[in-house]
Amino acid sequence: MNILNLEQFSKQEIHHILDLAEEFKNGKKVDYQGEKVIANLFFEPSTRTHYSFDMAALKLGCKTQNFDTENSSLKKGETLYDTIKTFEMFGVDAVVIRHTKNEYYNELIEKIKIPILNAGDGTGNHPTQSLLDLLTIRQEFGHFEGLKAVIVGDVKHSRVAHTNIKVMERLGMTVYTSGPEEYKEEHNFVNIDEIIDKVDIVMLLRVQHERHINNMQETQEQYHTSYGLNMTRVNKMKERAIIMHPAPFNRNVEIADDVVECKKSRIFKQVQNGVYVRMALIYMSLEEK
Ligand code: CP
Repeated sequence: MNILNLEQFSKQEIHHILDLAEEFKNGKKVDYQGEKVIANLFFEPSTRTHYSFDMAALKLGCKTQNFDTENSSLKKGETLYDTIKTFEMFGVDAVVIRHTKNEYYNELIEKIKIPILNAGDGTGNHPTQSLLDLLTIRQEFGHFEGLKAVIVGDVKHSRVAHTNIKVMERLGMTVYTSGPEEYKEEHNFVNIDEIIDKVDIVMLLRVQHERHINNMQETQEQYHTSYGLNMTRVNKMKERAIIMHPAPFNRNVEIADDVVECKKSRIFKQVQNGVYVRMALIYMSLEEK
């Protein structure tokens, strides 16, 4: 099966994926004994998603191929479809793809006959990130219904925000957005200082310099003062509230250096959960039609 976006899954199916990820966390063993090969094709830079998919595949006993865009025939003008079809013909069992184009997979799904796992498409979807976020939240609170989250920062350019807003609301959460006007999307938009003491989750977003057509209006220091999570703001959060960030993070821009690993931060737990979620998704993609 393809894993393209979270709209393809019902609420029950999302819980099933999270349950499976928990099973892998608790030691569930699947060993393909090197008989399955997963190809990771990242047309955009990535550390967490790329290498946690790689680690997940290795933990399942798969072999992996890691596509090097810089030294590939992309440089000779080869198309996305032709590149993916080539890996299919090599005999790989599934492809993990990140691409700059929103919903790039629409041009592939008719003709590519092996599972496609979407590792992020442009500003559209980041389903595996969202699932690891949901796993982290469910581990913390045991449920989604009634929880309140604020997503702070560059909401407009963020596939993490776009994916999370939709799925979190479907699961019964209330999602606010906050940050600079220039990155605003009209979705329960609030000032960070008016909401910080009312939410269960503060999810920060990276300022995505590479996606901006215009440079940021504020300096990094101004951004940090106006919207950044510093210890003064952390101390206003609810007692059980947590801090999340998909990472990579800009220290002392959207998050203060001393907040990254503070007691409320679950940022590195998210990274760890990414391996279990991706094990679940690779397993499902190989086993389910
Ligand atoms: N969170 C995330 O997608 O990080 P990478 O870009 O490093 O994969």
